[in-house]
Parts: sequence; structure tokens; C-alpha cells
Amino acid sequence: MKAIIRTGDGAPDVLQLGEVPSPKPTRTQLLVDVKATALNRADLIQRRGGYPPPPGESEILGLEIAGIVSAIGDAVEGVAKGDKVFGLVGGGGYAEQAVIDYRMAMPIPDEWSFEQAAAVPEVFFTASENIFTLGGVAAGETILIHAGGSGVGSAGIQMAHHAGACVFVTAGTPKKIDNCVALGAVAGINYKTADFVAEIQRLTEGQGVDVVLDFIGAPYLARNLSILKTKGRLLQVGLMGGATTEISLNTVMRNRLMIIGSVMRPQSLEEKIAITERFMARWLPELKAGTLRPVIDTVFPLARARQAHEYMEANRNFGKILLRVD
Ligand SMILES: NC(=O)c1ccc[n+]([C@@H]2O[C@H](COP(=O)([O-])OP(=O)(O)OC[C@H]3O[C@@H](n4cnc5c(N)ncnc54)[C@H](OP(=O)(O)O)[C@@H]3O)[C@@H](O)[C@H]2O)c1
Repeated sequence: MKAIIRTGDGAPDVLQLGEVPSPKPTRTQLLVDVKATALNRADLIQRRGGYPPPPGESEILGLEIAGIVSAIGDAVEGVAKGDKVFGLVGGGGYAEQAVIDYRMAMPIPDEWSFEQAAAVPEVFFTASENIFTLGGVAAGETILIHAGGSGVGSAGIQMAHHAGACVFVTAGTPKKIDNCVALGAVAGINYKTADFVAEIQRLTEGQGVDVVLDFIGAPYLARNLSILKTKGRLLQVGLMGGATTEISLNTVMRNRLMIIGSVMRPQSLEEKIAITERFMARWLPELKAGTLRPVIDTVFPLARARQAHEYMEANRNFGKILLRVD
């Protein structure tokens, strides 16, 4: 099969279309003819040699797929050849064929394109698990979502707004902020021209927020903690600005704060099946009904994966960047 492979002597992050053996499904896996996959920020790190796949997962990039089942393992139940499915994978998405455990494969609603389906799993799972399962955001609470224009941000804004929370965002351009407001944010802060701490204090009349969903890390940690209300929660989901810093723990103790971190890919199969089931119960019906939608910025052909990465690296996308597999 054709797949995007990492090549290059001394330039290991070159991405090229090449020929590799097709994956073989285990007893509980489906072999899927991939029709669409999507980029995630972690792919940029993996391309450069960081963020290696967990043991047993494909070395090929790509954390989510949508396509047609072409073979099934002998312990698979409830899925047949020819079914259209989408879901989260531990790797292997940037390819003509990929494998997925049948308990993580969700049926693609009739009216959806493969691109729409491939834009959903990673960002909706991440937002849902962090904002609700770990963060316990409830109606009437306030949440600040950093990088509101990211794939995860574009899903999180819609979900938190739908759940009755008051959503603030940060983003790097006025256009991204407008787009966040159109998805349900109450207000946006351009972090390049304004101090988000001062702005949150102004917008909340000095109250602060119940929850912060953060992808920036070290440079934001002290400031994130400073705007949390008593019993506030900081959800640490990314480290785009760095991982190491020093803070005083006074605020954490005095205000009874919680700092909760999580990463999706290294979790066990059982945990990821449970995440898929929670998503299917609470959010898939909303997506099917059109109450929420995956935000797609651009679709590139698979062969142009490298250009798609450069587009993401330049922070040009609002929402998801897709790869179409012809
Ligand atoms: N823990 C998990 O399980 C998990 C799962 C999925 C994703 N993530 C993390 O979630 C984050 C978003 O992922 P994604 O794929 O949705 O990203 P994405 O679509 O590439 O969006 C990232 C956006 O973040 C902003 N940004 C980049 N560097 C920044 C910096 N140093 N300071 C402030 N803003 C910055 C940029 O928007 P502006 O134009 O607004 O600057 C950029 O467009 C990443 O950190 C990723 O690793 C974590």
C-alpha cells in the first residue's frame, strides 16, 4: 500500500509517499481502506523524531481515520466488510490502509463525508475527556480555552457552550477570535496584543474562571493559576510553549486548586474504548443532529502531507487540517 513515510539522511523529517506492507489485523481488529485522515499537533513532533508511538503501534503518522472496512479479525463482533467507520488509532493514519480495534470503530453517519468523520475523533475525545470527565465543567461555570482556534479548541468551545458554560478564549488573530465567537465563545482575547490575565479579570469583574484548558504550558502556568476561582481546575493538555517552569504553590493551596494533566495516545486500549463509548453516548448524537460540527479548515491530498504540516506549523488553520486518501 501507499503511505507517508519519514525519510532523509540528516533531514529525518522529510515526508514522502512511499510503498510499505499493508498492516495485518489482529483477531479484534478491522482492516480499513482509509479515505480520510487528519493532522494533529503531535504529528509535527513525531515527524521530527519526538513523541514515538507506543509499543505495538504503527510507526506511520496519523491518529485518526475514516474509511471502509476491507477485512475483519475472527473475534470481531457487530462490524462487517463494507461498513463505513471512523475512530482514533495509535498511529498509521497517513496510509491507504490502517487497523483499528473494532470497539473503537464508530459507524459513520449516512449524511457525513469521510472528511467530516476524520475531523472528529482526536479533538472531540480530547475536549470531552478533559473538559467534562476530568474537569467536571457544569452549566453556569466559566472556562478559558487557550488556543481557541486549534482543532481541540474549536471542538471544546462548542461542547462547553452547549453544556451551558460561559466560554472565553485566547487566539492569535482577530479573525480566529471572530470564528471562536461564532462557535459559542462569549469573548476572545488576542494574546499577542493583550494580557489575558487582565482581560479575564475585566470580563469576569474580578471573579476569575472555574476552569482553564491550556495547551501552552510553562509560560502560562502561574498566570493560569492566578485567574482560577476557589476550587478552580487547570487542565494541562499541551505544552506548545514549553514544559519546565517554577511557581509558588501558595495559590494552589490557598485557593484549593487542582492541576490535572492528561495525554490520549499512551492510554490503554480499555481506557480508549471507554473514552469512545462515552463520546458515542453523549456527543455523537449532537454531531449527528448538527448541534455541534467538526470545523474543517483545509483538505490536502495525502501526497501533500508535508505541505499540510507546514500549514499547521505556520499556525494558519482554524480547526482541522485533513488529508484525503484517493
Ligand atoms: N493531551 C492530549 O491528549 C492531546 C490531544 C490532542 C491535542 N493535544 C494538544 O492540544 C494542542 C492543540 O492541538 P491541535 O492539534 O488542536 O492544534 P492546532 O490545530 O495545530 O492549533 C494550535 C494553535 O495553537 C496556537 N499556538 C501555537 N503555538 C502557540 C504558543 N506558543 N502560544 C500560544 N498559542 C500558540 C496557534 O494559534 P494562534 O494563531 O491562536 O496562535 C495554533 O494554530 C496541542 O498542544 C496538542 O499537543 C493534546
